[in-house]
Amino acid sequence: MSGYLQRMKEKARAFEGRGDLLVLGIESSCDETACAVLRGKRILSNKIASQIEIHKRFGGVVPEIASRNHVLAIDNLVGEALDEAGVKAEELDAIGVTYGAGLLGALLVGESYAKALAYALDKPLYAVNHIRGHIAVNYIASPGLEPPFVCLIASGGHTAIALAKGYDEMKLLGTTQDDACGEAFDKVARVLGLPYPGGPRIQELAAGGKPVIPLPHPFKGSDTLDFSFSGIKTAVINYANSVKMKGEELPAADLACSFQELVTDIMADNLVRAARMYNCNKVVIAGGVGANIRLREKVEERAKERGLTAFYPSVKLCTDNGVMIAAQTLCMIKAGRQPSDFDLDADANLPVSG
Ligand code: KG4
Ligand code: ZN
Repeated sequence: MSGYLQRMKEKARAFEGRGDLLVLGIESSCDETACAVLRGKRILSNKIASQIEIHKRFGGVVPEIASRNHVLAIDNLVGEALDEAGVKAEELDAIGVTYGAGLLGALLVGESYAKALAYALDKPLYAVNHIRGHIAVNYIASPGLEPPFVCLIASGGHTAIALAKGYDEMKLLGTTQDDACGEAFDKVARVLGLPYPGGPRIQELAAGGKPVIPLPHPFKGSDTLDFSFSGIKTAVINYANSVKMKGEELPAADLACSFQELVTDIMADNLVRAARMYNCNKVVIAGGVGANIRLREKVEERAKERGLTAFYPSVKLCTDNGVMIAAQTLCMIKAGRQPSDFDLDADANLPVSG
């Protein structure tokens, strides 16, 4: 063990029982450079440099371009987050950084920056699982929330149901067998001629449509908590192609609405079913697709019918941000997890349970 890690472990021992830890969270796993400062559960700053406009013209995120833009943004953004929080870097108690899952080159930018900062300041560094961050942000958004609860993870790269047994203890109950739900939203949007990222655009278009186009419902009638979205996506693409071949006008709003209604039904059903199966009275939504208004409405409605309480973050805290990374850092500290050494590597395929 390095001298640094030994010192950091000692520092971390003094964190026990403190609810006012000052934590910087750094996120660079995809197309958002983000950082935030938390004092306990209070958000002091939350800065995001989005690359959406840069990647839009390619119809999706280009990894190399994402990495380069993280390099350009990160130093200023951390400075801005500290300024806005009104704290000096030396005052921080800990630094948390996303180490997976995500784009490898993009992850390495945040991770290298965080290592250098931790080294310069002699502060403990925590390696944060991005997906766990999406879940943990709920503790900040709803300060009364405590585990256990069942959670729907709905992002661009993941779709899963997990049982949060403790602050940093997760049991995976179901996962997608193919596409992630956000990926399906983005691909369907592309077919409908909508720009990246597709989720919010589908939501807008769907508001003016009706769910009248029949689409296949995978696992209908089954008790599985797994998901499958590729059949639905393919059915949307086939429908759009057949309409085009007939020279008819595409009923884009109805198609967007039919897709959104089906996908949000499936996710809301699996979540409340998992709560029943695992005897939990709290259901939680996490991840970028959690910003979807119909998903939130359905989870809220179905939870209420069954006497469950539903929790979800604000739209800004659903999509990638630094608060979620700082929040998970606090969870790791609470759960007694150790800080990392400088040999920390990035893991592009880190699982939810990792
Ligand atoms: O969690 P996130 O910000 O990044 C990942 O970790 O992947 O999720 C991004 C995904 C994208 O696929 C985007 O289209 C989707 O979240 N998304 C939405 C909405 N807002 C963002 N999907 C449906 N409805 C929305 N309102
Ligand atoms: Zn994410």
